[in-house]
Amino acid sequence: MGARLLELSDVTAGYDKKVVLERVSLRVDEGEIVAMLGPNGAGKTTTVRTIFGLLRPSQGAIVYRGRRIEGTRASEHVRDGMALVPQGGRVFAPLSVAENLELGAYLLRSREELHRRLEEVFALFPRLRERLSQRAGSLSGGERQMLSISRALILRPRLLLLDEPSEGLSPLLVKEMFAVLGRVARERGTTVLVVEQNVRAALGIASRVYVMRLGHIVMEERDPSRLLDGDALRRAYIS
Ligand SMILES: Nc1ncnc2c1ncn2[C@@H]1O[C@H](COP(=O)(O)OP(=O)(O)OP(=O)(O)O)[C@@H](O)[C@H]1O
Ligand SMILES: [Mg+2]
Repeated sequence: MGARLLELSDVTAGYDKKVVLERVSLRVDEGEIVAMLGPNGAGKTTTVRTIFGLLRPSQGAIVYRGRRIEGTRASEHVRDGMALVPQGGRVFAPLSVAENLELGAYLLRSREELHRRLEEVFALFPRLRERLSQRAGSLSGGERQMLSISRALILRPRLLLLDEPSEGLSPLLVKEMFAVLGRVARERGTTVLVVEQNVRAALGIASRVYVMRLGHIVMEERDPSRLLDGDALRRAYIS
């Protein structure tokens, strides 16, 4: 695997007085697909929000591309190649699919570049092309999730953070979406940190897995296929 891209060391973070993450340490190397599993309320969303700069850790260090980034704003992270697809997706319901994609591409300089990037996302999610003028609010759940992921991909991020991208999707769409993520990682070298409850789908593409529980990383597995039998994972979730 490649060089270290992201590293959290003993990160403590939460909301107001409520501590959610306690001394969380993890790393993501260039080109990896790292999955983060764990039960509801474990702190998975809090972790990705903290990485993305939406929450400031009260202690610990976050190093991205060799620089400390605690306290750096999300907009700066985006310029530096980070993208977040938040839990539940993020689209502007009253705007069309095309307008949503253009908003995602706000850092691009020219129309030509925008058109090239649009073609890239249509190659991954052909269905979006057919719905360009449709209001995002009237998309199906799966289409909305594809749009949300495309909005993140259009800037060709170096590190893609995904928070439960399969939530609410049919088994077929989950398969399709994970196949696309695998392709993006392979073909573009995009590094992926994906939070998932769909253990089987996540283990299918992950090169490494963390399990989080009650604000702590309770397990790191370098050989995700070993978790497929379920026993080790069950122990990590409940013990
Ligand atoms: N804005 C907030 N203010 C206060 N507490 C919060 C806030 N957001 C989350 N929490 C609390 O932080 C803890 C961790 O929540 P978090 O959303 O990170 O969990 P999660 O692992 O993503 O869970 P899920 O799988 O349900 O999405 C929970 O106890 C939750 O109630
Ligand atoms: Mg969550």
